[in-house]
Amino acid sequence: MKQVAVLVGSLRRDSINRKFAEALGHLAAERLEFNFVELGDVPMYNEDLFVEGQPPEPVARMKREIEGADAVLFVVPEYNRSFPAVLKNAIDWGTRPYGRNSFAAKPGGIVGTTPGATGTAAGQNHLKSVLTVVDVVLMGQPEVYFQYKPELFAEDGTVSDAATARFLGGYLDRFAKWIERTSEPKTTAQA
Ligand code: FNR
Repeated sequence: MKQVAVLVGSLRRDSINRKFAEALGHLAAERLEFNFVELGDVPMYNEDLFVEGQPPEPVARMKREIEGADAVLFVVPEYNRSFPAVLKNAIDWGTRPYGRNSFAAKPGGIVGTTPGATGTAAGQNHLKSVLTVVDVVLMGQPEVYFQYKPELFAEDGTVSDAATARFLGGYLDRFAKWIERTSEPKTTAQA
């Protein structure tokens, strides 16, 4: 089964984006395996933190997890009509040291949720422009601009609303196909 490194742009315990990502993981379970990448221990980017060319261990771990995955999924809260610093920081570390870009040629997707009616559209679109620069092979359609409503989800974290499950299931179908279609063959070292 294809492995998806999931980067959630919120560190807080009760994050709706984390809940949303977990609900997507349940829906994807037959097709894709979601592996959540911990970003809470990743320091702010500072070139001085490299020791003999090696980044700090939380960064090295994050980079290994992204590099070992078949695809990346960004789950994006919207902050001030953009995406949160925690994701920009992860992306910046991911592309360094120069020439060792962990995101290079990775199939990728973006989803996000907010209580607000615009559904993170502005935040996602800022993120899109950055991801294309760092060589993520980004799926453009379908888009998931999701207004979070607690009643759409069950206590166990699954999607309880049938129309929502269909909509999100459709996204996951397309994302699974996108990964198949755009994956470069892994090198022996990666396999
Ligand atoms: C927000 N929020 C927000 N929501 C939105 O729809 N558009 C926006 O531009 C902003 N801006 C914003 C800035 C900052 C600094 C914060 C902390 C919050 C509200 C945001 O969507 C809400 O707090 C979500 O619950 C954040 O996602 P998590 O942390 O629950 O996953």
